[in-house]
This record gives sequence, structure tokens and C-alpha cells, in this order.
Amino acid sequence: MEKKDIKWSELGFGYVKTDKRYVANFRNGAWDEGGLTEDADIVMNECACVLQYAQTCFEGLKAYTTEDGRTVCFRPDLNAARMYDTALRLEMPPFPKERFVEAVKQVVKANEAWVPPYGSGATLYLRPYLFGINPVIGVKPADEYQFRIFATPVGPYFKGGVKPLTLCVSDFDRAAPHGTGHIKAGLNYAMSLHPIVEAHKAGFAENMYLDAATRTKVEETGGANFLFVTKDGGVVTPKSDSILPSITRRSLMYVAKEILGLKAEEREVHFDEVKDFAECGLCGTAAVISPVGKIVDHGKEIAFPSGMDEMGPVTKKLYDTLTGIQMGRIEAPEGWIVEI
Ligand code: PLP
Ligand code: COI
Repeated sequence: MEKKDIKWSELGFGYVKTDKRYVANFRNGAWDEGGLTEDADIVMNECACVLQYAQTCFEGLKAYTTEDGRTVCFRPDLNAARMYDTALRLEMPPFPKERFVEAVKQVVKANEAWVPPYGSGATLYLRPYLFGINPVIGVKPADEYQFRIFATPVGPYFKGGVKPLTLCVSDFDRAAPHGTGHIKAGLNYAMSLHPIVEAHKAGFAENMYLDAATRTKVEETGGANFLFVTKDGGVVTPKSDSILPSITRRSLMYVAKEILGLKAEEREVHFDEVKDFAECGLCGTAAVISPVGKIVDHGKEIAFPSGMDEMGPVTKKLYDTLTGIQMGRIEAPEGWIVEI
């Protein structure tokens, strides 16, 4: 397969129009058979439910070229399951899970020339999404929906690759108790746009959100979960009903415990104890594991002992093992790698 002529290693996290995308429509109470299209534009009515009431959700996963030249995806079944749960919470018809995985495979196969080569530092990001498309003016769910998946080659989510980030503690809340923080609804990201613009203006890479009810516990950032490393080398990740159940985080906790033999704990993390951790990282499909060097809370700095130059040693081990599995250098646990 001849690859596109792209400077793969110079890619950031941006949209590049690729050849084919998948589209399926839900009408008269059923999903049609769906298929690939070259048309990247969507035409809809001015009163479409997604435009008026933000009835939309999405997923994110990646395709990789392995060391031995295969094209693979990482745990697409978990994205299918999470989008299913998200759709139910937003009163949308879920896209069948097996069809989701099948559609992912079709999109990757049709855009194989866009899957970045092994060792380039880039990957093919896949963006499944689902939205209410018919006109709705009274507040209620749509009757007609569109499910799509497009692909775009991407580099690192944060500028500077794996250089440690500086975060700030946000004065805004990301998710309410009993709200939608645990699903991948577009509305969660709309509300994070103002805080992220403010954070960037102040020179920070991302926001650390605290729990909305007490503002004493660590939740997540706008686009990734937290991982902390204790001074004795254990891995801790915040447990909360209002954060997204990150597939990367769940995979890393398994890697920590079952492959690296580390103590790995999912529990509430109080902001007060953050200063006592040895390392901190953000994990997600886009973020992979991005190390955090410093967190600033209204002028008060928490600097992790791992410093601002490189990833801490435990974070690095987790990063190397996860990316090793994704790129086929390390044997994957059963079912994690889906070959295209
Ligand atoms: N948290 C938020 C708010 C996200 O947007 C993402 C990205 O998907 C994650 C966490 C990480 O989830 P995953 O590892 O499934 O990509
Ligand atoms: C992902 O990691 O797939 C996400 O959806 C995060 C987003 C902020 C790009």
C-alpha cells in the first residue's frame, strides 16, 4: 500500500480531509445499511436538533501501523460500547456495536494510504459521531439521526510532544453531579471552550477540573483522565461518576497491575494530596500519556519531582508498554488489537 506523501512527523492534532468516510442514517425507526462516501459535507435543515439543542455525541480511537507492517485499531469494541451508553443517555438510537466496529474497519481500510507509517510518530485518528438531524423546535429528541466516522492523520495532541505540561486549576466546573460528565456528549466540550481559551491565554496547556459539588476532589481535564504515581511507585487514578471512563486509563490500569506488577488503585483523589504525588500524567486516545510537570492553583505551584524536562520513570514505563502494545512490539492482552 503506497502511503500519501505527507511529512508525517510534522503533523499536529488537526483535521486533514481523507478519502472516504462512513455514513448511516436512522429514519422511520431503523438504521439503513450505511456505507462509505467521498462527500465530507453534511447538508441539514436550519432547525436540525443538533444545531438547536446540541443532540450530538462522539468517540475517538486510532489506527496504527505496527512494527511488522500491519494496520490495527486499539479496542474499538470499547468505543462502540461507550457510544452506545452515551446515545441512550441523550435519547438517541444507539448505533449497533458490531456495526460500529465493522464501520471502523471499513473507514480504516478505505483510507489505508493515510495510516501513518510505523515510527513516524503519527497515527490515524478516527472520529465516530452521531447527531439528531431532523427539524426540532420544541425541546425533544430528534426522530432522524446520522452516524458518521471520518479519519484524519494526527501527531501529538499537545504541542511539544511528550514534554511535561503545566496545568491550572479551573474556576469553572466541567460536569455536574448526576449530569453528563460520564458520557461523550458534545455539550461537555462546548462548555469547556471558554475555560480552555482562558487557560491558554494565561499560558497553561489544560485545565484541571475539580468536582462541582465540593471542589475538593480531582476530576479530569477537558480531554483526558488523570494518572498519578505515588512516591512508592504505585499508580492512582481518580474515581468519579462525573468523569469520562477513559479507555486509555482503563487499559493503563490493567497494564500497571497485570503487566508491570505495580499497585494500581482507582479511588477518590483529594486535591490536597496532589502535592504528595511523584508523577502526574494525562491519559486519553489523543493525549496518549502526556506528562504533567506542574499544576498551578491560583498562583500556588505544585511542581512534581519528575520535573519539566521529561516523563517520570513510572509514567515512561506505562507509556512504553501501552504504545508497545499498540504498535505491535509487545504482545497485547486478548482482544485489545483488531487487525484491519
Ligand atoms: N476524558 C475526556 C473528557 C475525553 O474527552 C477523553 C477522550 O476521549 C478522555 C478522557 C480519554 O478517553 P479515551 O482514553 O477513551 O480516549
Ligand atoms: C480523544 O482523545 O479521542 C478525545 O476525544 C479528546 C478530544 C479532546 C480530542
